[in-house]
Amino acid sequence: MESFRIEGGVPLSGTVRVDGAKNSALPACVASLLTDEPVVLHRVPELRDVSTILYTLGALGRRVVRHGAHVSIGVGEESSTEADAYSVRQMRASFLVLAPLVARFGRAAVPLPGGCAIGRRPVDLHLTGLRALGARVEERDGVVLVTADRLTGARIVLPYPSVGATEQILMAASLASGETVIENGAIEPEVEDLAALLGRMGAKIEIDGRTIRIDGRRELRGAEHTLIPDRMEAGTFLLAGAITGGSVTVAGVRSEHLTPFLGPLESTGADVTIGVETVTVHGPSRPLPAEVVTAPHPGFPTDLHPPFVAYLALATGSSSLVESVFEDRFAYVDALCKMGAKIVRSGAALTIHGVESLQGQATEATDIRAGAALTLAGLAARGRTTLTHLEHIDRGYSSLEEKLQHLGARIERRDE
Ligand code: EPZ
Repeated sequence: MESFRIEGGVPLSGTVRVDGAKNSALPACVASLLTDEPVVLHRVPELRDVSTILYTLGALGRRVVRHGAHVSIGVGEESSTEADAYSVRQMRASFLVLAPLVARFGRAAVPLPGGCAIGRRPVDLHLTGLRALGARVEERDGVVLVTADRLTGARIVLPYPSVGATEQILMAASLASGETVIENGAIEPEVEDLAALLGRMGAKIEIDGRTIRIDGRRELRGAEHTLIPDRMEAGTFLLAGAITGGSVTVAGVRSEHLTPFLGPLESTGADVTIGVETVTVHGPSRPLPAEVVTAPHPGFPTDLHPPFVAYLALATGSSSLVESVFEDRFAYVDALCKMGAKIVRSGAALTIHGVESLQGQATEATDIRAGAALTLAGLAARGRTTLTHLEHIDRGYSSLEEKLQHLGARIERRDE
């Protein structure tokens, strides 16, 4: 089994260029199903999850050509409207193929994605949205069957600004007749990036606050699109610099996408400098405590919750974090406590009593961001940390250990 071996205590320094955003790449690849013309994407990260979605599209009859960070997706020999269970089990985002398939072909059969380590994660809002556009939705033996003659625009009020549901409705509405209005939609930068791609494909989309207007088209064309940078990867590297008391610059970023994270980071005494497509952090000797509540964008991003708590574990006082997006995003806490952190959980709230130091331990990743948190804790800890189940980390970070080595970290991937 592969594992990271980390010798902690080295202040990181230097510059790392971030990849394109995983959570943009996945819906953008899926959006290629909305046309028979080629969709060409640039800055596509080399990640397990991206390989999974490209496999899913290939299994649906798409022709996928990849050259490093450049991917072209076009029509293949035979189109299918049935997604295979393997893909959806591997990765929930595969469920997004539902909307483009039914919008294009009037039919789609996609297995229901189960829950995952961070929560139950139902898809009821995805299905409510498709029903509102006139689709017939039924569930049989764990598979969602959706049929429709032609989808028709509608006003859809989301009770919660779900990222996935908003993306599903955006794609369906782009080929529906008439106008669709999503109220209380998700406005994460990755959702806006999908809207930008759909705009290049010919859809007419306006976003005003959480109101999203989509003017549907009878057909969409091919397009070329460069993905936005990955703000979660950027945030993780900035925290790697801060937690080791080092100085790290992330390059190729959109600093405005990081604002909800940079404010709380600065409040801990980290010195943050914003440049042209760069953000630099000088970590404090020990962070000041902070109070954080995760929330949909522009709230504090839930995906940076675990790494941020690893950082606050070394604060000079007690911090608090409330996780309001996923009910079960705490699997990393026990491992951090094994490393000497003092964290008390009460429902969705954590109280983090800062300690002077952490101690290296044998740990395992349980999901993408939990793995990032334990990697960062290992970089700051005394002694050696080992981290197994790297398949989780590889889903969301490409060559994490190499990029950290480039910043001076003593980390290596071993196959034992
Ligand atoms: C996206 O997941 C991201 N994944 C997640 O990143 C991210 O944490 C999340 O948005 C929130 O920002 C991708 O983009 C591929 P949601 P998604 O629908 O679309 C509930 C990572 O580490 N909900 O906004 O699944 C749901 O249970 C991953 O990169 C319903 O109740 O997020 C959750 O509690 C992890 N019914 C909340 O809403 C629904 O139909 C947020 O889910 C849909 C969602």
